[in-house]
This record gives sequence, structure tokens and C-alpha cells, in this order.
Amino acid sequence: MNDEFVKWLEKNDLLYERFCELNKRLTSFLYKYTDDNSKTEVCNRFSDVLKNCDVITYDEEGVSAAYTVLHFMDRYHRFQLVFLELLEKGILPIKSRIDILDLGSGPGPSMYAMSDMYELYRKFEIEKKKESKIKEINIDYVERSNEFTNFLHHFTEYANYTDDKVDEWKYHVPYHHTIFRDINDLVFNEKHRIFRNEYEEIEGEWYQVQEIQTVKRRYDLAVLSNFLTNVDMVERFNKQLKDTAFFLRNRGLFVVVGAIGSSEKYRPVYEEIDKIILKNRYRTKRFEGYCNKVLSEHRMEYSFSNDRFGKDVISTIKDGVTFFTDNELEERLDKEFLKDFNKWIAPDYNKSIKWEVNAYKRRSWLRKNK
Ligand SMILES: C[S@@+](CC[C@H](N)C(=O)[O-])C[C@H]1O[C@@H](n2cnc3c(N)ncnc32)[C@H](O)[C@@H]1O
Repeated sequence: MNDEFVKWLEKNDLLYERFCELNKRLTSFLYKYTDDNSKTEVCNRFSDVLKNCDVITYDEEGVSAAYTVLHFMDRYHRFQLVFLELLEKGILPIKSRIDILDLGSGPGPSMYAMSDMYELYRKFEIEKKKESKIKEINIDYVERSNEFTNFLHHFTEYANYTDDKVDEWKYHVPYHHTIFRDINDLVFNEKHRIFRNEYEEIEGEWYQVQEIQTVKRRYDLAVLSNFLTNVDMVERFNKQLKDTAFFLRNRGLFVVVGAIGSSEKYRPVYEEIDKIILKNRYRTKRFEGYCNKVLSEHRMEYSFSNDRFGKDVISTIKDGVTFFTDNELEERLDKEFLKDFNKWIAPDYNKSIKWEVNAYKRRSWLRKNK
């Protein structure tokens, strides 16, 4: 079935169609909703989102537009390829209800790509068999920066309802401003005290009846992308990584995407993540299970020069930077950034974009009574 799906995508050129449609909506949103005052802030942020990703808070004014111009369509395409690969390998969860968690989403390129891939799969099944297994797709995300959560809130609304649309395509990216701001606060069993509309008498006094209710967050797919860039960070997020893997549903998938791990900087990061997820104790009073690695050090790439997606990514960057600087590149861009920018837009620019994917599958079952 998945092979047929891939052939159908290729025959109808649907990955490119979705890519172009999102690119069109994204750029028209950015251009329509930026006034002249905020353009300067965006120009000041280009070099930060390129070179200082580990240093900035992502709450500096102008960050979301600068990040979106430089990274959004590139990351979206990387995720198209990642989810296609996971589908082809038969490890992406396909079921009636799919709950997804994206951690440290930024402006959400992975969420738009997931939404599109599942929606395409659903369309394919309906076309071939009149009905799709997939009935419901829900995405939650955790993101600390107000710049990004505001962007996500407004852009999704714009992309779904405001633009002149060629079809009725909708994105499953949520309008809420994240379920938790900080990954450190993320809890999968969230307890609430609620007051019922009832009273009880205790030793002659009347009290409103209280009870504790638990909101349980369970996911079929969790994604962490371009987020953990050094071993210290992995150690700091140890509990969140453990919990995310632990609370996945049976057959759920935890996907970690980032830079190629052959360098001294990144290999230890992936090794540490492996240790945490694979050695977690997957056992409660009622359940037991494990997580195993189903995709290891999987390298992927596409080209900025020999590939129409790559060429479009460069055009979007070129048009975006030209728009935000009012075509006053020399006057408004920092010198180092201008050098990089001129390199990208040169006709002979030739670069291959490479990244790495690791994925873990959760299995669990009810414990037998002894
Ligand atoms: C380099 S960006 C990656 C964004 C996106 N996942 C991508 O692949 O393009 C890292 C993101 O993680 C967010 N972040 C960093 N620490 C966080 C935390 N403790 N809780 C929630 N989000 C956090 C940042 O605000 C930023 O948006």
C-alpha cells in the first residue's frame, strides 16, 4: 500500500504541489503583514537566526520573520522527505486517530509537513478505496518563544482561511499558543482540582465537593528537530525525553532530526539520546514494554542547485531578503550575512543540504497476573 502511495505522489507530483502552495501562502502572509517599521528589526535578525541559533532566545523582535524567510521552506522540504521515508519503511503510524507532539517547533515547518503528508495519505486512500483509515489528525506543540507562537497562530489562520485558495486544503496545525510554553513544564498526566456543583456535610459544615481529574496526553508520533545541539542540553532535558518516549502509545514513534552526527560535536548528542530512550524503564503496575531503534543514523540530503525544491528555497530567501531590506542590501544587512547571501544567489552556487534522522518505536502490553 505504501509503495502505491509513493507512486501516486510521484505520478501526480503532489509533494511539489504542496510545497509550492505552502510557499505561496507563506510569502504572501509575510509580505502582507509586515509594516515598514518592523522591516528593520527583521533585517537586524537575519545573521542571528543563521549563525547564533544556540545563543538567541528567539523572542527578539523580528526573529520569526527572519527565521521563516531563511529556514522555513528548507525545513519543510526536509520533513517532506523524512515523513516519506518513514512511510516507505512502514514505520510511520497510520491509524484511525493520530495524535502528534512537536517539541521546540519554531515556526512549525515539521507540523505543516506532517499535516500535509497525512492529508495526502488520506486523500490517496479515499481515491483508491473510497474510505481512509485516518479519521482524525491532532497536533500539539511545545514552544517557548512568543514570536513563534504568535506566528503559528496567525499564519495557520491565514493559510487555512484568508488566502485565495486553489483548493480547500487545510492544515492541522493548531491555533492554540502551545500546550506548554517550556518543555521543562511538559507533563503527560496533568492533574486538576475541580469543584462539582454539589455540597457535602462534614462535621456540621457544608463544603463544595472537590475531585482530582487527570488530563492524559498520549501521542502516536513525537518529533524533536534541530533542538538538542550539545550533550549538556540532552542531559538537561533527560526527564522530558524519557517521559516523551514512555508516554507514547503502543507502536508510537519518536523521531529525532538534526545535523549529521559524524562530527565530534553531534555524535555524542545522538549517543546520549540513545542511552536515555533505549534504557528507560518502560514498566508500570499494569503495563510493560520497551522502545527500540527503528532508524539509526539515517542520512538524508537534497540539493540547493540541482533540484527544483532547492532552487525554490533559494528564490524564497532571495525575494524575502530583498523585500525586508527594500532592496537596500548593502545598507541594511550586516557584512557577514551579505557575504553569505551573495554566495547563495550566485548562479553557480552548488550546495547539498544534509541531515540525520533517528527514530524509536514504542511497544507496550498489559502485564499478566501471576
Ligand atoms: C533551532 S529552533 C528549531 C525549530 C524547528 N524545530 C525547526 O526544525 O526548524 C529551536 C526551537 O526550540 C525552542 N526552544 C528552546 N528551548 C525550549 C524550551 N525549553 N521549551 C520550549 N521550546 C524551546 C526555541 O524557541 C526554538 O524555536
